[in-house]
Amino acid sequence: MLPLSNKTALVTGANSGLGKAVATALARRGARVLMLSRDLRRGAAARDRIIGDSGNDRVELLRCDLASQADIRALAADVHQRTDALNLLVNNAGTAFSERDLTVDGVERALAVNHLAPFLLTHLLLDLLRAGAPARIVNVGTRIDTAMDLSDLNWERRPYKMMAGYGQSKLGNLHFTRELARRLAGSGVTVNCVFPGVFLSNLGGTDGAQSPALKFFARTFGWALPKPERAAERVIYLLTSDAVSEVSGDYFADRKQIPVPAQVDDPAANAELWRLSAALVGLEETPV
Ligand SMILES: NC(=O)c1ccc[n+]([C@@H]2O[C@H](COP(=O)([O-])OP(=O)(O)OC[C@H]3O[C@@H](n4cnc5c(N)ncnc54)[C@H](OP(=O)(O)O)[C@@H]3O)[C@@H](O)[C@H]2O)c1
Repeated sequence: MLPLSNKTALVTGANSGLGKAVATALARRGARVLMLSRDLRRGAAARDRIIGDSGNDRVELLRCDLASQADIRALAADVHQRTDALNLLVNNAGTAFSERDLTVDGVERALAVNHLAPFLLTHLLLDLLRAGAPARIVNVGTRIDTAMDLSDLNWERRPYKMMAGYGQSKLGNLHFTRELARRLAGSGVTVNCVFPGVFLSNLGGTDGAQSPALKFFARTFGWALPKPERAAERVIYLLTSDAVSEVSGDYFADRKQIPVPAQVDDPAANAELWRLSAALVGLEETPV
């Protein structure tokens, strides 16, 4: 295992599940880890655990509610105060909602947290990633074979369903990965998307998307699911393996490239989602 003591990493959603496992694995290998949580109490408990488990005290807690674009902008300013370069960025935080709800920015909440937040945060950190090149971005997606309705991103004309809203927003991760890789070609910054597998976590739990039946299922049969640490291996592979140091814009499962839904192979769809996303987060001109 290569030591990562000269690397600075930022992991979103690092107080729970996959993000916590990835932050722990990076800290074990000596990286400086900026860990993001929307809740300082839960975040501090996770930070103490990560430091205890890894023996690495270069783990810093940053607060940000990724459902708020103002919070994301404040977070990016905080990161710029802390470091001049970033080598690894893991856009991991994700959630689901049982009903359609709008954020303070007027955006459907799953789209905001799962797609627009990584879109905006990555843009605001691109100068640090370029300064940290060779740098790698990993977007955590999910395996879903459908298409985004680019004419109704905000679910104004369709009935909202939890899995459909979640799936659409997570498809955004794939479109974003493809288009960002195209725009970053030759920059020394790569970006890939990973399907981490199905594993035991608190996904959607804090936001109330987990029904009592789902919670019961998780409590009763959760032992049979892989642990987040297992899923984290897929992320760590993309962050550290020499085998993928030059690979960008691809979708991986267990160390293997996997096919993307047909719409993600359409450059026009990727460009269109990029344009719509930039408008929704108020980026007149994107820096790439
Ligand atoms: N579990 C699976 O089987 C599975 C399968 C495929 C893909 N994934 C993906 O894996 C990633 C990690 O999820 P997980 O399963 O590890 O779930 P998790 O245990 O709930 O972790 C999700 C993390 O995202 C954070 N988060 C959610 N909304 C946020 C917001 N508005 N602002 C800031 N942070 C926020 C959560 O914070 P709180 O603790 O405050 O809620 C938590 O730290 C997600 O992108 C998910 O889509 C999971």
